[in-house]
Amino acid sequence: EQIKKGSYDHFMQKEIHEQPHSLKTTMRGRLKDGGVLLGGLKEYLKTIRRCRRVVFIGCGTSYNAALAARPFVEELTGIPVTMEVASDLLDRQGPIYREDTAVFVSQSGETADTLMALDYALENGALCVGITNTVGSTLSRKTHCGVHINAGCEIGVASTKAYTSQIVAMAMMALAIGSDQISTQARRDTIISGLNNLSSNVSEVLKLDVEMKELASSLIDSESLLVFGRGYNYATALEGALKVKEVALMHSEGMLAGEMKHGPLALVDENLPIIVIATRDACFSKQQSVIQQLLSRKGRLIVMCSRGDASAVCPSGSCRVIEVPEVADCLQPVINIIPLQLLAYHLTVLRGFDVDQPRNLAKSVTTQ
Ligand code: G6P
Repeated sequence: EQIKKGSYDHFMQKEIHEQPHSLKTTMRGRLKDGGVLLGGLKEYLKTIRRCRRVVFIGCGTSYNAALAARPFVEELTGIPVTMEVASDLLDRQGPIYREDTAVFVSQSGETADTLMALDYALENGALCVGITNTVGSTLSRKTHCGVHINAGCEIGVASTKAYTSQIVAMAMMALAIGSDQISTQARRDTIISGLNNLSSNVSEVLKLDVEMKELASSLIDSESLLVFGRGYNYATALEGALKVKEVALMHSEGMLAGEMKHGPLALVDENLPIIVIATRDACFSKQQSVIQQLLSRKGRLIVMCSRGDASAVCPSGSCRVIEVPEVADCLQPVINIIPLQLLAYHLTVLRGFDVDQPRNLAKSVTTQ
């Protein structure tokens, strides 16, 4: 086992640091001549373009990856996208139609809830697409078509490299579906060049490791941690909080910053640590005002911003700031999750918990 971990202490740590490489393997051979080539979807692109709706279905981290993909899938394809947690779709027996494209996201391809939802969507006649890391899995066999994310084997129960590769696989899927639209050509070019530079930006953001360890040591005794995000980074807030919850065993909630004033604001005081994601995108000024509102309630803030933006997000200098490299806005979630993965990892080690096998959890939940 130690050999497989190489110089790392834990699989989660190894998998976090592997991301520059795993993202490259996700994209390998697929970004060609300024376009995207996804062999597993090629025959189905026309059908997908004609669908009435894309429904993303998954559990846990895979659901969060789909949520991160939702804005750019809507933007690049013009198709409405709805989100379903697999168990909730089944509980409600929610409507799925023949005209739908149901996209199932699962690292293992064996999660029982996701597979039951797949059977349900197949029965209802939807076109079923799989996004998985596991070639030959039930998900990849039962779906009509799909994309293997090729992130390499993931062993840590808390998913890290699969999350970022899922987002990138869905970005390529959105680019492929939207590739017949002339009006979005320039936008697609920007995203493709962002994908080409993504690995080196991920290597950059991994340099925050020591800083995240320091941050973790200042948070080890906290009872709770909130993470506020919006737009492209709502999913980052949910996923960052999920990592902290599942491995560091600390209560943590990801929240939509736009909902802050409708409840969560009541929790704010000098003690509760709050991470606010405020990297550059169309929501930046709204996040600046969220930060001001939190500071005026004496909130204990940790702000994640684009490099060089520390004084723009926190002019008073009273927040702790995490500066990350800026990439194409819709790819920013791939960068922004990494400091939070590192934070969850270090918090877990410092709090003395099992990193790779958190209590009560399984890598793949194959029973309902
Ligand atoms: C379990 C794991 C999570 C994972 C979820 C979905 O709950 O502990 O880390 O995100 O299953 O797994 P999947 O293999 O479908 O992505």
